[in-house]
Amino acid sequence: MVDIKQNVSLQPFNSLAIPSVAAHFVELAQEQELPDIIAYSRARQLGLRVLGGGSNLVLADRVEACVVRNVLLGRALVDEDLDTVILEVAAGENWHELVAWSIAQGWSGLENLALIPGTVGAAPVQNIGAYGVEIADALVSVRAFDLQREDMRTLSNGQCLFEYRNSLFKSAENRYLICSMRLKLHKTFSPMLDYGPLQALKSKIGLRAEDVFDQVVAIRQAKLPDPKRIPNAGSFFKNPVVTGAVFQRLQRQFPDLVFFVVGSGYKLAAGWLIDKADLRGQFGAGGVGCYSEQALVLINPERASSSDVIAWSDRVQQRVEQLFGLALEVEPRFWT
Ligand code: EPU
Repeated sequence: MVDIKQNVSLQPFNSLAIPSVAAHFVELAQEQELPDIIAYSRARQLGLRVLGGGSNLVLADRVEACVVRNVLLGRALVDEDLDTVILEVAAGENWHELVAWSIAQGWSGLENLALIPGTVGAAPVQNIGAYGVEIADALVSVRAFDLQREDMRTLSNGQCLFEYRNSLFKSAENRYLICSMRLKLHKTFSPMLDYGPLQALKSKIGLRAEDVFDQVVAIRQAKLPDPKRIPNAGSFFKNPVVTGAVFQRLQRQFPDLVFFVVGSGYKLAAGWLIDKADLRGQFGAGGVGCYSEQALVLINPERASSSDVIAWSDRVQQRVEQLFGLALEVEPRFWT
C-alpha cells in the first residue's frame, strides 16, 4: 500500500520556500503505485497535483489536493547509431545531474541547459530554455499518464505543442503525470554559441561540450541566485513579444531598449524593463523583491508567504505597465 500522508509541509519542496501545506501528500517512487494513488484521490474527490523540483511554482498557504511528488528514477541508453544516442530518463531525476552525466559520457546537446534547477519531468512543462537552446530541441517523446483517460500515453515532440516557455503540459494543467522522456543527443559536438555571452567561445580551438557547460555554469552562478541560499523561481516573468509598431514607439522613447527579433515581432528583455523601472534590488512586504544582479528574478529571502510574493509581482507588473504600457506575463505556475 502506498504511504499517503496528510497535512505535509511543502516548504522544503518549493524553491521560493513559500510556507505551504498539502492536505494530502505522497512520493511516487514506482509507476505501479499510481493506481492506488488515483483510487485514494477519487474516493475523496481530490484533485491530483504533480510536484517535480518545485522550482517554477507559487504555492498557496494550503493546497487542498493530493500532491504527488515525482521521485521516479532511472536513465538508460535505449538506442544509438553512428552520430546519435537516444536516452530514456525518468521524470524524478535531477535535471542538472542529467546534463553533467550526459556530457561526461561524451554526448552533447544539453550543455547550454546546465544548472537549470528542477527535475527532468518538469523540464518539458515550461519547455526550459537558456542560451539559445530549449529542451524541445532534444526531446523525442514523453511518456505520461493521462489522468483524464487513465492510461499511459507516449506523446511525440510535435504532440507536446512546445512554444517559448509553454507546452501542452502547462496548458492542460493537471492532466498529465510525466513518467519519463526520450532525448536525442549527439556524439559529435556542434556548439550553439549565438547567445551574446557565449560568443567569445567561438574562437576557441578544440572547443568541447564541457567548455560550454563550464561557461554556462559560470554565467548562471554570477547572475542567478542559488535557490538553496536565496529562495527564488528563476525568471519570474516572460520576455514580452511585441509588434513592430509597439517596438518603434518604445524605441523612440527608450533608445537603449534591449530586444531580439523573433519572426515578425520583437522580444523585449523583461529584466531590462524592470531594471529601467528602478525595481532592481528593491524589496516590498515580507522582504520579497527583485534580485540585485538580475531584476527578472524575484527573490524571497525571508521565506514569506505567497500573498507577499503575489503583492510584489503585482507591483512589478503595475510599474512596467505605467512606464512602458506593457503587460508582463508571470512565468511560474500558481497553485491555489
Ligand atoms: N538586463 C538588464 N537588467 C537586468 C536584467 C537583464 O539590463 O536586471 C538585460 C541584460 O543586460 C541583457 C538582457 O536584459 O541585455 C537579457 O538578460 P539575460 O541575458 O540575463 O536573459 P533574460 O532574457 O533575462 C532569459 C531566460 C532565462 C535564461 C536566459 C539565458 C526568460 C524569461 N528567461 O533571461 O531563463 O536563463 O535568458 O538564456 O526567457 C528562467 O526561465 O527561469 C530563466 C532563468
